Amino acid sequence: MKILGIETSCDETSASLVEVKRKKIKVLSNIVSSQIKIHAPFGGVVPSLAAREHVNNIQTVLKASMAGLDFDDLDLISVTSGPGLISSLLVGTAFAKTLAWRTKKPLTGVNHIEGHIYSSLLKPVGEESQILDKKELFPAICLVVSGGHTQLILMSDYGKYELLGETRDDAAGEAFDKIARTLGLGYPGGPIISKMSESGHALKYLLPSPMINSKNYEFSFAGLKTAVLYLVKNIKDKENKLNEQTIADISASSQKAIVDVLIAKTVRAAKSNDAKSVMLSGGVSANKLLRQRLKESLTDTEIEVLIPEMSYTTDNAAMIAVAGYFSNLNKKSSDLNWQSVKADSNWEMV
Ligand code: KG4
Ligand code: ZN
Repeated sequence: MKILGIETSCDETSASLVEVKRKKIKVLSNIVSSQIKIHAPFGGVVPSLAAREHVNNIQTVLKASMAGLDFDDLDLISVTSGPGLISSLLVGTAFAKTLAWRTKKPLTGVNHIEGHIYSSLLKPVGEESQILDKKELFPAICLVVSGGHTQLILMSDYGKYELLGETRDDAAGEAFDKIARTLGLGYPGGPIISKMSESGHALKYLLPSPMINSKNYEFSFAGLKTAVLYLVKNIKDKENKLNEQTIADISASSQKAIVDVLIAKTVRAAKSNDAKSVMLSGGVSANKLLRQRLKESLTDTEIEVLIPEMSYTTDNAAMIAVAGYFSNLNKKSSDLNWQSVKADSNWEMV
């Protein structure tokens, strides 16, 4: 079965073709047009600019993703219909609905977070991944860490989710972005903090890992952000400015504080729910320390650790195509009509 995925929920325009055949998944194409450079001067995504860019690029991105294939060869079109920026979602859903109507193909609306969850099942373009047996995969603990979400989800089957806990304030990615801004680094902050951390001492500043010892699966990162703000203010008051090494040390200490709490709660959730696997996803899953620490902390267990390829850590349509496949396993394609797909910027999966 061949699925076309379309993703425009934030600032990446993406289209992808995925083939699912005989218990194997193969990404045939995954085209991503990033708008990071356009939004960077504003320190965040500007919704109206994002929508305009999606409109400008979606046709070209779709054409490239089809790689010469005919629309007749498609079995399903899958589009992100929420959550996300409404102006961005409307471009993708309107485009996908028109395409489905024109080509008479079934269309499904996919939750963006559900898409992220499936990203760890994908291999790079052109390579096949074996679909694990349900017994090897479930129950799974999904750690979703992005710019807008930090959630620990218990997944008992395809499409069956239970929220164990989430952030009470800032998301992990948001914390990286805000700390980066305080340090005078650019946007998005996560990759820069991660890079700066390589030359920093993570134990130089003792920053809080909020709620690390609380018995629940909730997170809070606003306190850490404030702690960094005061630390920087104090240093600037004394030394007038932040030097390169201090920035690297604060970066490494902040990264450690965030990763420590993410790992502690994920490992506890996996062990106490007898998880067969842990699935990491979202933009923050690109963080090297997080990837490495998650693997290390579960090596002495039977729990399978599924970490997305770097190319699938950021928003992409391949994960949307695969989520569209798995979330409609038991549906007839005649039930998947374009009329029922609607953009919903606040769609909560769990
Ligand atoms: O999933 P995503 O691409 O967009 C949302 O749906 O939010 O996540 C973007 C977030 C940003 O906050 C960015 O700073 C963070 O992911 N991020 C990282 C890294 N790469 C991206 N955070 C930490 N380390 C990284 N290497
Ligand atoms: Zn995302």
